[in-house]
Amino acid sequence: MSENISEKRINSLVPPHEMEKAFGFIRKMRALNEKRALETGTDLKAHVLTFGCQQNEADSEKLAGMARSMGYEITSEPERADLILVNTCAVREHAEQKALSIIGQFKHLKNKKSTLMIGVCGCMVTQKHRSEEIRRSYPYVDFIFGTSSLHRMPQLLYEKTVKGKRLFAPDEDEYLVAEGLNIERASDYRAWVSIMYGCNNFCSYCIVPYVRGRERSRRMEDIVTEVEELAEKGYKDITLLGQNVNSYAKGMEYDFADLLDRLAKIEGDFKLRFMTSHPKDASRKLIDTMAKHDKIAKHFHLPLQSGSDAMLKAMNRHYDKAQYLDTVRYIREKMPDIAITTDIIVGFPGETEQDFKDTLDMLREVRYDMIFSFIYSPRKGTPASEMEQIDEKVKGERFSRLLEVQNQISLEKNLPFVGKTVSVLCDGVSKNNDALLSGRTEGNKIVFFEGDATDEGKYLNIKIDRAEAFALYGEKIK
Ligand code: SAH
Ligand code: SF4
Ligand code: F3S
Repeated sequence: MSENISEKRINSLVPPHEMEKAFGFIRKMRALNEKRALETGTDLKAHVLTFGCQQNEADSEKLAGMARSMGYEITSEPERADLILVNTCAVREHAEQKALSIIGQFKHLKNKKSTLMIGVCGCMVTQKHRSEEIRRSYPYVDFIFGTSSLHRMPQLLYEKTVKGKRLFAPDEDEYLVAEGLNIERASDYRAWVSIMYGCNNFCSYCIVPYVRGRERSRRMEDIVTEVEELAEKGYKDITLLGQNVNSYAKGMEYDFADLLDRLAKIEGDFKLRFMTSHPKDASRKLIDTMAKHDKIAKHFHLPLQSGSDAMLKAMNRHYDKAQYLDTVRYIREKMPDIAITTDIIVGFPGETEQDFKDTLDMLREVRYDMIFSFIYSPRKGTPASEMEQIDEKVKGERFSRLLEVQNQISLEKNLPFVGKTVSVLCDGVSKNNDALLSGRTEGNKIVFFEGDATDEGKYLNIKIDRAEAFALYGEKIK
């Protein structure tokens, strides 16, 4: 009984009066901004800067949506902004240092324009020692709010603007889900849809459960409505987001596979993707559901982290090599051409040369299309940060060896595409080479080709004529 009550609470919505309060502050702020715009003769502008993963990208689209509702135009130039929101990440030390350095650079903008408001949010400042650091060392930051308090941003901004007092709002609604916020999407053909928030897994290296709170899921009907709207607007690629989508709707009467099955029945020319799937609960039902629907992209991101059973245990991952391989075997049995990608951490505390070699062996055995690899970074407050650490030089060497092994595999996986024609969702002019366009295949492989910028957002047929480890190159077929 008590379990039911707590599980029900876990998936509860922010109460309507709380959301009304948030919308009230949005209106008040809008009135203030309209008055200021009349006085100065120009619209106010907001800049939202995002670090970290797709969850943060999705949150930032809500921040930008709220800013828009408050009367701000969205700008990509911080120099022109009247409001800057920095959405931070804490997953590795490097991510935190990058955010702190940029926040540091905003000091001179504040010196130039005293009415500029700066808010910092996201995973980094949800840690007490970091919010204290901002309070102490970055006095020009006006307000801070946690990852579960996005809907409080308008209130903080309003109160700082009117009363002039710096505000630090820690999370209070840890287990609640806020619906109904305006979303300013960064793209009009690729969309993020958060289906759940938080994580209960506590992998021993990972800060996410501490900064994102406990798992809670959105209701299926709210997600269906959002995806239907996206499909109607012509979105082509929709990614469902959660730290562990397989635990979606725990305590509710349906599960993640049911959600996928329902969403795949929505009409429209789009593909569904999801991330991330924890290997310990990637179920047969989920894999069968993927295999059943053309609308579900044939790409599976299944983070392995390490190929050593001893390391997996120390990482608190709750699966071993054999179970992982069994899941991969079943995925490939049902969907032979699927692309499989993974995350790997090298240099976890206690990782021996043999443990590392076990990881290399797993890469050779699974033959991933691509891997995302990370050097272990100790995170304050996590169990692994208290364990005996590995020499930095050894970590660096292993990282290079890992890349070398995977580059060869990725190349071998890409070569068979030469001569074939693949469907690619075009992302417009390439960021790295403005003579070419880029796009992604269903398996999320990047493809470069010649074309014109109006192809952005369309599905194109590309005949592949060259393959590298990280990319395919080809020609547009009429
Ligand atoms: N929820 C997802 C992703 C979490 S973070 C999952 O479980 O897969 C994305 C990746 O960052 C992780 O998969 C892991 O490979 C890496 N990562 C997390 N914490 C890390 C740390 N302390 N040091 C290095 N890499 C880390
Ligand atoms: Fe971190 Fe593990 Fe949760 Fe992923 S599943 S967010 S790696 S604790
Ligand atoms: Fe970073 Fe938070 Fe995502 S720590 S990786 S932004 S969940």
